[in-house]
Amino acid sequence: MSFRTIIEPFTIKSVEPIRMTTKDERNRALIKAQYNLFKIPSRMVLIDLLTDSGTGAMSSEQWAAIMRGDESYAGSTSFERLESTVRELFGFSHIIPTHQGRAAERILFSTTCKKGDIIPNNTHFDTTRGNIEFLGAEAVDLVIPEGLEPRNPHPFKGNMDILKLKNLIKKRGKDNIPLCLLTITNNSGGGQPVSMQNIRDVRAVLDPHNIPLYLDAARFAENAYFIKLREKGYEEVSVKEIIHEMMSFADGCTVSAKKDGLVNIGGFLCTNNDLLAQKKKDLLILTEGFPTYGGLAGRDIEAMEVGLREVMNEDYLKYRLTETQYLGEHLAEMGYHTIQPPGGHAIYIDAKATLEHISPLNYPGQALAVELYKTGGIRSCEIGSVMFGKVEPKTKREEPAAMELLRLALPRRTHTQSHIDYVLEVAKEVLDRKKEIKGLKITKQTTFLRHFTASFEPLLS
Ligand code: F0G
Repeated sequence: MSFRTIIEPFTIKSVEPIRMTTKDERNRALIKAQYNLFKIPSRMVLIDLLTDSGTGAMSSEQWAAIMRGDESYAGSTSFERLESTVRELFGFSHIIPTHQGRAAERILFSTTCKKGDIIPNNTHFDTTRGNIEFLGAEAVDLVIPEGLEPRNPHPFKGNMDILKLKNLIKKRGKDNIPLCLLTITNNSGGGQPVSMQNIRDVRAVLDPHNIPLYLDAARFAENAYFIKLREKGYEEVSVKEIIHEMMSFADGCTVSAKKDGLVNIGGFLCTNNDLLAQKKKDLLILTEGFPTYGGLAGRDIEAMEVGLREVMNEDYLKYRLTETQYLGEHLAEMGYHTIQPPGGHAIYIDAKATLEHISPLNYPGQALAVELYKTGGIRSCEIGSVMFGKVEPKTKREEPAAMELLRLALPRRTHTQSHIDYVLEVAKEVLDRKKEIKGLKITKQTTFLRHFTASFEPLLS
């Protein structure tokens, strides 16, 4: 059998120019942004791998659907279409649109969670953790130990540790756990999938205690395709059926449609609980909008509805995971320590192992991000102690995160293989002089989600 290149399964109908910058310009931009890449203007970025969220390209069908948007305040046909598609795909009874994922999270937790409660998850994403902690509740991460070992090639490193979940319920009591979450794929843990067996097992642990299960399903289609590729018994099952089965174990889900919804803005919250749905809709009206638009324009809802169907196309998913794998395998070959196996939406470089001369509290992930930007205008995102380090309020002592990662997230349908090859060339240049890279210190920060706004200074030695 001959192997052919797995090509981008689309042609390009509309283009957006990128601006070339010089190293001097980038250096100045870094100083102005206090070494925080969130504060760099996008016009100064050549290849933006900061996030795969809302940064993808829409299809011609989605742009066509935009014209169909029904902008009625109440009862729009665009919402009816979305509701029917989400019901068909996911099977939940209530679909509540929100402007993006974190709005769905805020509404879910505000209506279910109080001070002192505990919410387990495989690994909470930063906004999920932030929303829970904001309510005075505790966000607990229970990913399997393999999920914290960067080089362990376990096929489902996003799985939740069933024993830890049982112990948590036993120790803290079911009455303090209003719900359990599972993030598919596990973004903060490396974009790693959760197996169907694990979803089933989590459900079985929760059932006798009547604890509801919600999926944080931003990357539901990528998770489903991993199940098809890696889980025994699913080889011949369609992605659509796998999605339906994953959701069948849950009582609801939150979705940031900016990922597998293939849109630039949008999200929704699903639940099977009628009483809760009413509470959620009441809060939605107060803060997002009427339940048939939830902070979105009718045209956004149309694009989302088409995106949700397009993302299940298996040629697309095959290309998507191959693109990520291509980047990951080449980085590993040249000597970067990366989380194995490659994730769905991003490659995670183990910055602690790659830059072993920089200690975790001098933020090796941030140092590498700064270097990739300086060298080639590539923007990436630290997922380590800057994002998840804990500062003890009284002593100001800082506890590092479990891992020091640098994420290169791939926007959907946006870059070609030559863009990826360029990223690899820049990464090689950086690796060749890694010994010269210095750590950083934080000079200014906020209490919640500090990574978005913190200021840094490079260390001199
Ligand atoms: N859940 C997960 C697993 C996420 O990755 C994100 C966002 C959210 C919830 C929140 O959704 O941005 O629409 O409000 N992740 C983005 C990222 C920001 O870069 O990984 P949102």
